[in-house]
Amino acid sequence: MKNIAVIGTGYVGLVTGTCFAETGNNVICVDIDKEKVERLKNGEVPIYEPHLDVLFERNIKQKRLQFTTDLASAIKDAEIIFLALPTPPGEDGSADLSYVLGVAKDLGKLITEYKVIIDKSTVPVGTADKVTAAIKAETDVPFAVVSNPEFLREGYAVDDFMNPDRVIIGTEDEKAKIVMKELYQPFIRDGHPLIFMDEKSAELTKYAANAFLATKITFMNEVANFCEIVGADVDKVREGMGSDTRIGHRFLYPGIGFGGSCFPKDVSALMKSGLDNNFDFSIIDAVLNVNKKQRIKLLDKILDYFGDIKGKKFALWGLSFKPDTDDIREAPALYLIDELINRGAEVVAFDPEGMDNVKKLLGDKISYVENQYDALDGADALLIATEWSVFKNPDFNLIKSKLNSPVIFDGRNIFNLSDIQEKGVYYSSIGRQT
Ligand code: UGA
Repeated sequence: MKNIAVIGTGYVGLVTGTCFAETGNNVICVDIDKEKVERLKNGEVPIYEPHLDVLFERNIKQKRLQFTTDLASAIKDAEIIFLALPTPPGEDGSADLSYVLGVAKDLGKLITEYKVIIDKSTVPVGTADKVTAAIKAETDVPFAVVSNPEFLREGYAVDDFMNPDRVIIGTEDEKAKIVMKELYQPFIRDGHPLIFMDEKSAELTKYAANAFLATKITFMNEVANFCEIVGADVDKVREGMGSDTRIGHRFLYPGIGFGGSCFPKDVSALMKSGLDNNFDFSIIDAVLNVNKKQRIKLLDKILDYFGDIKGKKFALWGLSFKPDTDDIREAPALYLIDELINRGAEVVAFDPEGMDNVKKLLGDKISYVENQYDALDGADALLIATEWSVFKNPDFNLIKSKLNSPVIFDGRNIFNLSDIQEKGVYYSSIGRQT
């Protein structure tokens, strides 16, 4: 059992705090947002993340998970302090470290005995050094700064935390290594190691992993686009490629590009880190450019089909950047909506979880319906931007009866090509023949 303080109750902080409480530790989560802390104290989970609520409730009841706005009292008895603070992109794509370094300074003023201070936020190479310097400027008390990046996928965060493929621990402080080993022991299984390295390598591991995955998707998106030109089927190519164990089947699904709060931000930050070090990350540059075009790939297909879309009405299924989340940050659907309404088209949207967030952002620029089929009434085509399970086996007769003409543009390839050919609809997807 360890006493842990987690600073920042965003997505990463909440999952981290809850999962460490679940493995028997005493966790206190700190946030400057008083209203949020009150809601958390009352057992309200502010984010949509499967399974989090059950663990959250259980650990609050057991008093292993607590919340406060008072940093000083939270860290007093905590041997371990996690920094799970936002690192939003600045104007130039670089990660804004002001929250992280601000708290580091505060910690420097507050600590009175050895602490292990752990960076969970995704931060550029060299941040551990900056955090160390910020704390050292305030105190002579010994401490260690550890880089321990998270690899949590939204929608699977609890499972990813409880069953990690690997845990990266970046530190050269021997005492901190022992503390971290004990802390993560419950999560380590055969073949899923705890990997120790220096702070800089740990920081870069996170960016490199996200950028590699973004590159893998983007590569497949380019292959898909080429499949359309030469008459190949990307499903077959994907299966053939993925069967090579060096490549693997995962993250090879083409679509309308990657989005979310992580990939676009982290890939841009790595690019910027490269530039800052006079290093031209040309592959990353290409990934960003290709993804920008891919996000509006359906638009090209729609324009090819309809020509002018002024006054046309489109039913849009899917707003969140991927299924099982209400997160709409950098969602390809938003870029598509923008292009459609700028050309005078009307959009009627449905999403199982993301509609409230889009309403806040776009207001009445588009219309919203509470049932996916209601979006189809009098629409000229159905557009699919997110592969929610509920869209995968629809009532095609109802779709055909409601649309003006049976036309579907699918940005996530959710239907099997041979099945859909029997449904009597015009169907256009990514990397497959129409
Ligand atoms: C991603 C990483 O997968 C996590 O390991 C990492 O911890 C996290 O970012 C982060 O940095 O915090 P996440 O953004 O939740 O997690 O989403 P993913 O499931 O990885 O999907 C990212 C994007 O890639 C989505 O837009 C998704 O639609 C797209 N994608 C994914 C594809 O287009 N094709 C695929 O085959 C897979």
